[in-house]
Amino acid sequence: MTAFRETAFRETAFRELSVENRIKTLQNEGAIDESDATFLLKQLAESSDATIPADVANCMIEHQIGKYTLPVGVVRGLIINGETRNVLVATEEPSVIAAACNGARIAAMSIEGCIVANSPQYVTTAQIAFENTDGNVAAQLREIVEDSGKVEELLHVANESHPSMMKRGGGARKCRAVALNGFAKLEIDVDTCDAMGANTVNTMGEAVKAQLESWLGVEALAAILTNTSRVATTAEVHIPAAALASTRLENLDEREIEGKRLASRIAALSALAASDTARAATHNKGILNGIAGAALASGNDTRALEAAAHAWAARSGRYLPLSTWKTEVLNEQTILHGRIEIPLQIGIVGGSISSLPMAQLAIKIGKYKNANDFRNTLAALGLVQNLAALRALASSGIQAGHMKLHASNLAIAAGAKGDEIAKIAHNLLQLTTAERTTEKVAQLLKQLRESDKN
Ligand code: MEV
Repeated sequence: MTAFRETAFRETAFRELSVENRIKTLQNEGAIDESDATFLLKQLAESSDATIPADVANCMIEHQIGKYTLPVGVVRGLIINGETRNVLVATEEPSVIAAACNGARIAAMSIEGCIVANSPQYVTTAQIAFENTDGNVAAQLREIVEDSGKVEELLHVANESHPSMMKRGGGARKCRAVALNGFAKLEIDVDTCDAMGANTVNTMGEAVKAQLESWLGVEALAAILTNTSRVATTAEVHIPAAALASTRLENLDEREIEGKRLASRIAALSALAASDTARAATHNKGILNGIAGAALASGNDTRALEAAAHAWAARSGRYLPLSTWKTEVLNEQTILHGRIEIPLQIGIVGGSISSLPMAQLAIKIGKYKNANDFRNTLAALGLVQNLAALRALASSGIQAGHMKLHASNLAIAAGAKGDEIAKIAHNLLQLTTAERTTEKVAQLLKQLRESDKN
């Protein structure tokens, strides 16, 4: 008991310390050494408007001691519904942006000349859950949603708890009662306009919870949004098989033959993902590579987005791929038809977006007119990312492309700086994969530095 109180006391004190003193405390406790502290303090001193301003960072999260930076790149040439977009992606994975650009290049050769994407009207849903062992609560909730006066009152309670959403043209729209095994819940759909709306919807959910508790005389278990969505964004593309062939093949017949072979293998990989959960998970991970990176760069909640995507993938009771690829013959031409369906709970305003300068830039450079415009872009990005991955798997495998970028990372990890990075990466690529050990990279760097001295 005493130990628990002491820990709680120390954590409260840590929260109240300045960032500098939090770093010093960690150093005094031996959790970090002097060089770690110097690194964190240097980062603190280098506060600039180009990253997150120090006071904003300190207020955004609890116990803040530093800032985590990742490279941000731009996916170029992605044409969606006739408009070319620049999409900012933050990622630690070397090949994500290169693959997306490659997929976008191929999609631009589609019959449509672009990816055709569409988003329905999205809502964010709050759930007020009750225990329902005897079935009574479920029956009472059903009566409530069948009584238009009561529904009106619940929507009013929700909207009054967050009036600014109504002013923006959104607000609570609809209620549903759902009976579950041993539980019952009331769901309330909220139009959150161009915001993801998690905070708004949770505030509304808690207000409705209090109202329901007073009507039912029963304490609810919880009020919280669901990260699932009842609707999804779609994107599709029809690609002539020859567009899949390597640009190194100059002969058109050879391109056609190679393109057909790749189209058929991509379709087979899609069918494999539909019949094997183990493959479907990796197929979907590839789709999310770019989408999660674009969501991160734009200040969106990547975990919410990924949870919704996986829940959608499993909605039939079996985990399935989010996209499908099939070959079709159109005017005697082999076409690869790709289609993705993915729920995208994102926003272009609200949340952390206004606090993060890079997030604002991501929204600006993408020229997203509204949240659905951004959703269409994300779904298209997921589709081309998936196309590039499957095309690589169907041909020479992904390692050839990955290794080029990975070689630079190995060089950086060994301490290479400036021009050294490209030189070491080049030397590493002359070796077999097995020869590219940490020791070998260190040795190459040492040799390079010695030869530069002479
Ligand atoms: C790697 O980040 C993504 C892939 O594994 C996706 C896939 O296998 O489809 C290449």
